[in-house]
Parts: sequence; C-alpha cells; structure tokens
Amino acid sequence: DKAGHKHFMSKEIFEQPTVLAECLTHYAPGDRVALPEDALDFAQTDRLILVACGTANYACLVAKYWFEQLAGLPCEVDIASEFRYRAPPVSEAATALFVSQSGETADTLAALRYASDKAARIISVVNVPQSSIARESDLALPILAGVEVGVASTKAFMNQLGVLANLAILAARQRGHIDAARETELLATLRAVPGLVNQALALEERIQKQTGKLAEARSVLFLGRGAMFPLALEGALKLKEISYIHAEGYASGELKHGPIALVDKTVPVIVMAPRDALFDKTVSNMQEVLARDGRVWLITDAEGAEIAGDGVWQTLIIPRIEPDLCAHALCRAGTVDRLSYSPAQRHRCGPAPQPGQVGDGGMS
Ligand code: F6R
Repeated sequence: DKAGHKHFMSKEIFEQPTVLAECLTHYAPGDRVALPEDALDFAQTDRLILVACGTANYACLVAKYWFEQLAGLPCEVDIASEFRYRAPPVSEAATALFVSQSGETADTLAALRYASDKAARIISVVNVPQSSIARESDLALPILAGVEVGVASTKAFMNQLGVLANLAILAARQRGHIDAARETELLATLRAVPGLVNQALALEERIQKQTGKLAEARSVLFLGRGAMFPLALEGALKLKEISYIHAEGYASGELKHGPIALVDKTVPVIVMAPRDALFDKTVSNMQEVLARDGRVWLITDAEGAEIAGDGVWQTLIIPRIEPDLCAHALCRAGTVDRLSYSPAQRHRCGPAPQPGQVGDGGMS
C-alpha cells in the first residue's frame, strides 16, 4: 500500500521523520544513550572498521566524521567487495561494524565472515533482524525503519545514520571525550533532526520546480566537505539510479585536482554548504565553479544563502543544521584555519575554459 503516494520510494521518503524519531527514542529514551555497553567496549577498541555497500557505505562514511571527531576513535571505512578480496589485516582489538539494510548483501556478509575470527567483536546495523548478517554478528542493532520496498534506499539510510550517531556518542562517552552534560546536548541535537527533516520535506514543491531544469542536464556534479562529502556521493548515486542522469559526487577540495575540467554552463553543480566551520572553504570551491561559468545550485541555510547566494543559478534554503552533525567538531578542535569569504574571490579562480574545450551546449 503506497498510502496515496505515487511510488514506494516517495512514501518511504515521507516516512523518514516518523521512523527516525522512533529509532532515536529507542536508542536514547532519556538523556543517555541506552545501548548494550558490555557488548560495545569502545574504550578498549583501537580501531573501528566500518564495511558496507552502496548507500549503506555512504552512511558509514558520514559516521566516520562523528566517530573520529566526537570520540577520537581511529576509523576506517571500506566497500565490502574490496574489503573481502583484499584480505586486510584486522587488529585483535578492532571493532568491525557492518551496515546493511537487507542484512543479506553477499559482499557484506562475506566481509563479515572474513573479519569474524580476527576482530574483537562484530557488530551489525541492519533493518532485517532475522537476516544472515544479523545472525552472524556478536551484536545486531536494528535500525527500526520498517520494510523498505523502494529499490533505492532512503529511510534506511536515514535510520542507519540515527543508529550510528548513537554509537558515536556512546563511543565518545566510553573513551572519556564527553561528559554527561555534553551527551545530553548531543542527544537533544539529534532529537531535533526529525523536525528538520519534516521542514525539508515541506520544500517538495519548490524542489520539484527547480529540478525541472536539472532534467535537461546530461551530467551533474555534487560537492560537499566534511560530512557533506559522503552526502554528495549519496546525492549523485540517487540521481543516477532514479533519473539515469550521469552524476558524480566529489569532496569540494578535490574539484581543482581534475574534475573542474568537466565544468561548463551545461553542467549543474550542486553545492551542499551548511553554515558550518567548513562553509567558507566550500564557498571558495564554489567560486571556482562560477569562474568557469558553471551552473551552481547552492543548498544551504538562510544565513549561508545571504552570504554566498550571489551569482548562483539556484538556491535551495534548507533548515539550519546543528554544526555538531556536519563539521563543527573540527572547528572546536582548532584544526580549521578559517578563510574569510569575499565576493571578490569569485574572479580569482583561474581562466574559464575555452569555448568547445569541454562541450559548449546551452542550458537555460
Ligand atoms: C542505493 C541502494 C544500494 C544499497 C546497497 C546495499 O539506493 O539502495 O546501494 O544500499 O545495495 O544494500 P544493503 O544495505 O541491503 O546491504
């Protein structure tokens, strides 16, 4: 039953606020994370190895920022089909974590079996609790998203992030990186997310209008920094799967190392830039795109649009995201040298490509 939606995918996208709220309440009903702590000893873990495929792998890549920044836990993320055949060394003190909506993905299961007699513990984050991956883990954590019928993963991705965020907060506590007050604050930040997702869903009509123009593109780039980088990869994957338009996601800072050659007025570039500690850096990469006549679709919050919305093709204003969930932890650690943005930077980004150099068809 599609509950009045055209497709299951649409229904499942709109279920996200509800299923995420349920998942967050399950794993943190009060102001402490309530995960089985004996089975999750992050204090003794020397390395967290996260393994998955596709969208689940991108959830792991987002979580890497959280585990490293909140808990100071060294973290590796692998694609299951690479991990299983590469046969990497796995330390006895490692925690290996496998993320899978179905719990049956063959490469992820094989990767789990490879790690199972090597790592200290095998944890899985799954949507199907009776699945093979869940059964073969020391601890299986259900994401509680309900059945996902759509082939392209949506609500499962959201809830994978919900479980991984709780795990990162527990790891931060067990490793002495946060006190009780900070844990409460982080959980309050998480609890606000379903409401923000609701606000984002309310933008549907507006997004529909804007994407009409996107449909003419033959190729689309997604850019992001920090936790927005894996979201750029996920955005590109979804666009490919659903619209058959070629798309790639890049870390914003990588643009100048090759992919900038693809940018011209026919290539929409979706820049995901919440107003976090890395905002100025992302905006400076965006200027490089504008200098090459790229069509920038800036996704940011109201403050970000005010600062950087000048000269872009389209802007989508989304609710403000708490910096803890994107890149603020970096700023706190003092590792980001802040660039101050000035509109003049726009024209300091090298020459525009010559006509014909990278295709010069028009796009209105
Ligand atoms: C993309 C998508 C796939 C899955 C991948 C892993 O929208 O759905 O990339 O994420 O096939 O599947 P699971 O999570 O079942 O292991």
